[in-house]
Amino acid sequence: MLFDSHAHIDSERFEGERDDIVARAKEAGLSLIMNPGADYSSSVNAVALSEKYDMVYAAVGIHPHEAESVDEAMLEAIEALAKKEKVKAIGEIGLDYYYDHSPREIQKQVFVDQIRLAKSLGLPIIIHDRDANDDVMRILKAENPFETGVILHCFSGSAELARQYVKLGAYISVAGPLTFKNNRKTIEVVEVVPLDRLLIETDSPYLTPVPFRGKRNEPAYVQYVADKIAEIKGLTFKEVADATRENGCRIFNIK
Ligand code: NI
Repeated sequence: MLFDSHAHIDSERFEGERDDIVARAKEAGLSLIMNPGADYSSSVNAVALSEKYDMVYAAVGIHPHEAESVDEAMLEAIEALAKKEKVKAIGEIGLDYYYDHSPREIQKQVFVDQIRLAKSLGLPIIIHDRDANDDVMRILKAENPFETGVILHCFSGSAELARQYVKLGAYISVAGPLTFKNNRKTIEVVEVVPLDRLLIETDSPYLTPVPFRGKRNEPAYVQYVADKIAEIKGLTFKEVADATRENGCRIFNIK
């Protein structure tokens, strides 16, 4: 069985189609989907979806794009949401220096605030890192949330960076770009990360893998990421599916 460790099925691009999306995911062999929040309202929606669909779990948090909108009341609201039964992580949180939608100093502060919240609740964090490798690593080393759990979502760093994260105890999650032509960098990441630290994800509706690249992504397509990992590591599809699912259950504490 497969676990899509990161899918935004709360996205408005799935409006009116979520029953079908979940049904197709089941047909494709998925048994679990993690839906992270990106701002307060999507966190609320992620929790609602986790209450509606058995196979869906939620993470709650504020994406770095929205960091500027965060105040103390919002953090308290996220904390209250995080105590719901099917909320298993704080995310997605982190730094985005590619778009810089919020000022960097504010992004960093909101990232730190949410890491501390996750630690206080005993929850792992799901990290978004775009063009901010050094600051993300520096903050993580200073705050040390590795015991409660760290997931690098849609990992786009080097194999060397992946190796450092594995050493610190983090999990590396790989998405559709692994299947893109000439993505040597991510192939090398998969080669160096041990199977017991890998997660797979779609980041639906974004980052659609080959052979559907260019179309809207959905959780059912996580199979193509598993397929590619199997090819790279010389394993069977089932070995990759089972291991990444078990890893997801372990890090998210899903029984
Ligand atoms: Ni995402």
